[in-house]
Amino acid sequence: MTEAPAPGGDRLVAFFDRRAGAYDRQLWLEGPALRAVAELAEPLVGVRVVDLATGTGGVAAALIAREPRIASLVAVDAAPHMLERAAPRLAPLGARARTLLADARAVPLADGAADVVTIGYLLHLLEPGARMAVLAEARRLLRPGGRLAAVVHGSPRGFHGRVYRAGWHGLTRILPGAIVGEGPMADLAPVVAGAGFEVDATWRIPGVYWSQVLSARRPS
Ligand SMILES: C[S@@+](CC[C@H](N)C(=O)[O-])C[C@H]1O[C@@H](n2cnc3c(N)ncnc32)[C@H](O)[C@@H]1O
Repeated sequence: MTEAPAPGGDRLVAFFDRRAGAYDRQLWLEGPALRAVAELAEPLVGVRVVDLATGTGGVAAALIAREPRIASLVAVDAAPHMLERAAPRLAPLGARARTLLADARAVPLADGAADVVTIGYLLHLLEPGARMAVLAEARRLLRPGGRLAAVVHGSPRGFHGRVYRAGWHGLTRILPGAIVGEGPMADLAPVVAGAGFEVDATWRIPGVYWSQVLSARRPS
């Protein structure tokens, strides 16, 4: 299936932009992991948050539900129709929240603009070079000592993980055009450590759709 040209020419972004109206149908699958991201992102009182690849605002909503006293939240995505749907989820923060149409690899915000950066369900979709570029941008946006909380499509450890990932790749061949991206990751932690973060915690959340949630720190 050929995707239309994307904002910025990115096929992945085009995929999500075209399906923005249907995206929230899968949010129930992500709920426990999104709440886990909010938990690992704590403390959130008075902090400046940048949510990369915000989509329809699932991570942002989980953060706000957990702590409405967030100082500010910038919800970044390159797909305009996803951002349109995120905007209502930011409403509880009023003027302290905004959407920003931008590539997660080049966000027009100053170095150190965030105390917390969150990334929900983007990194597993990207090929390794783009993944490292997003993590480098997250690192740039964080103040020294700032914290990253991320979730990816993950997998069980060991043999079961290999079976799960092979099954997923089989599914992508059966359903071409319906599934995008690189597929479930074996382990996000070494990737994040390789991008210059100190990993604090990582949780695997089982389900039809396994998730791996992680928190890390930009060294001071
Ligand atoms: C699977 S959705 C995740 C949305 C949301 N974070 C969540 O957890 O529900 C991936 C999002 O990443 C966005 N995206 C993909 N590549 C991007 C890029 N290079 N820059 C910014 N956003 C990007 C897509 O537009 C889409 O909204």
